[in-house]
Amino acid sequence: SSRTPLIAGNWKMHKTGTQAVEAAGKLKRLVDAARDVEIMIAPTYTALYQVAQTLKGSAIAVGAQDLFYEKQGAFTGKISSEMLVDAGCSHVIIGHSERRQFFGETDETVNRKIQAALSADLIPVFCIGESEAQREAGDTFSVLDKQVRVGLKDFVSEALTRIVIAYEPVWAIGTGKTATREQAQEAHQFIRSLLETLFGKPFADTVRILYGGSVKPDNVRALMEMPDVDGALVGGASLDPETFSKLVFYNE
Ligand code: G3H
Repeated sequence: SSRTPLIAGNWKMHKTGTQAVEAAGKLKRLVDAARDVEIMIAPTYTALYQVAQTLKGSAIAVGAQDLFYEKQGAFTGKISSEMLVDAGCSHVIIGHSERRQFFGETDETVNRKIQAALSADLIPVFCIGESEAQREAGDTFSVLDKQVRVGLKDFVSEALTRIVIAYEPVWAIGTGKTATREQAQEAHQFIRSLLETLFGKPFADTVRILYGGSVKPDNVRALMEMPDVDGALVGGASLDPETFSKLVFYNE
């Protein structure tokens, strides 16, 4: 497709500042020759500023793993979109299934967070995906439908142009159990046609939909060959720079 692929690493709660800077420095050298692919890594909050400094002048973008939607105020422990931009972020992951599962994230808070990201010019990487029980009950499409409709409620396509969607079936995250490329394609196609219904064809044709869930060097290429898979959101395999760089060069 004409969509530029995005390979994104979500470091989750791994690496101290020192470890993150070391990994980012290595990655910068390893992917220096990469062309026609966008790269993003999302370290923990405490490493963001240092990693962004390390990656200055490189093609690797820095993202946060969450934000809080209020601009400022008495919200102990929370980080605003403006603070993320100030730390050097261009992207922010929103609605990751671990946040939905462990930290009370809902489709409604996701909607407010996407709004906050966009108004600070951050690119939201909006995560959706069904659980194993939901898939087995045959509810995959209705779950995705609700997550997209509520998460993107009250937006117009013009405001959303830079958003990235990440389809992550919860049963494939950190389990070593990757969705087959046919399962991924089927979900991505469903999401893209829903986006066409909601926001029109030009938007649906250009929005990137990433796959996430046990992406590894040995399965990335097959997934990326599917017409509606535009990249990957990678957890475990993003932690080691050598391994992650193989994902960036999936085409070689
Ligand atoms: O954000 C990344 C996903 O949760 C995938 O994690 O590659 O370790 O399965 P994983």
